[in-house]
Amino acid sequence: MKIPLSYTPIDPKALERAVACVADTDHLMLVQSFESQLAKTLNRPVHVVSTNSGTSAIHLALLALGVGPGDMVIAPTFTYIGSVAPIQYIGAKPVFIDCEPDTWGMDPELLRQCLAEMADQRRLPKAVIAVDCYGMPAKWNEINDVCRHYGVPTIEDAAAALGGSYHGEPCGTLSGVGVFSFNSNKTVTTFGGGAIVARSAAIAERARFLAAFARHAKPYYHYSEVGFNYRMGPLNAAYGISQLPLAAQKIAARRQQFEVYRSALSPLGIRFLTEQKGFLASRWVSTITFEKKINIIDFQLLENEIEMRPLWKPMHLQPVFKGAPAFVNGVSERLFNAGLCLPSGTAMTDAEVHLVATKVAQVVG
Ligand SMILES: Cc1ncc(COP(=O)(O)O)c(C=O)c1O
Repeated sequence: MKIPLSYTPIDPKALERAVACVADTDHLMLVQSFESQLAKTLNRPVHVVSTNSGTSAIHLALLALGVGPGDMVIAPTFTYIGSVAPIQYIGAKPVFIDCEPDTWGMDPELLRQCLAEMADQRRLPKAVIAVDCYGMPAKWNEINDVCRHYGVPTIEDAAAALGGSYHGEPCGTLSGVGVFSFNSNKTVTTFGGGAIVARSAAIAERARFLAAFARHAKPYYHYSEVGFNYRMGPLNAAYGISQLPLAAQKIAARRQQFEVYRSALSPLGIRFLTEQKGFLASRWVSTITFEKKINIIDFQLLENEIEMRPLWKPMHLQPVFKGAPAFVNGVSERLFNAGLCLPSGTAMTDAEVHLVATKVAQVVG
């Protein structure tokens, strides 16, 4: 099997232990304990609502903030589709903002320009989503300041950022509502899952209600609106309970892999996303950029042995979002043309990390 980009093997013993400890409790208790354990891991006064994916968590976060059909939502152009697809599910309209080069997060200056224009047209967005790219926190102080000025709520897409932090505050808690993914390729996985982390109990309760078909708490089935079947499953939660205590160790392993890549490849002129003062990245996968546009074919020659991906293709260049308004500065397009994700993962051996570094060095050398 080739070295995968981000693979977390199933640990059946951990799953067995997790289920055994809670064998006498009901299914819902497993989900509730996963939620309280995540709140404990973050160590902040937050309300956690677990879901069946990060994408559904973003969908619920938008709905809980009152986004409806026809509303505008500001979103990052440099991101994974899961950040943005929920805007379309609702029938709202994305407005894309490019990233800045220090963190690859949303450019606060472009965001300010966009909000100023929208305010002039009396068409402010209902929400702003910004992403912690590959686990690197965005410039949240600046993003939050601009959004606060215009009274627009923010969503932090921290899908891959568990374990990252920003001036001492954990990723996922850096805006009004945060979202995590626990899908199979994440550092901490429930093999399908996500969570909303909200400061406001009302937002969390609204999301929880919508995640369970919007069923009212009555002795019979009663609905006044259409909700979703987005709850996390109990086995996923049980697995998550066994994995959250290992989060720090798993994140440290990926951060260490990043350092190995950096010391092997930066002397060759390959660039690495460095942590600014006060920023701590979870280094979900290690990313590299080249000075010039790369020929991805050169790297695909390695594909039989090593799984690598170009950095995200910006949303404003995707055919599905053709014609959507976008405030761009060229940064995300450059990243797409000249950047790669290298494999990382708890199961990756030191020898494999060194092998990847050697192969990349051969291609560029
Ligand atoms: C930035 C980002 N947002 C959203 C998602 C969606 O999460 P999920 O795959 O759990 O739906 C991902 C998943 O990898 C992601 O990387």
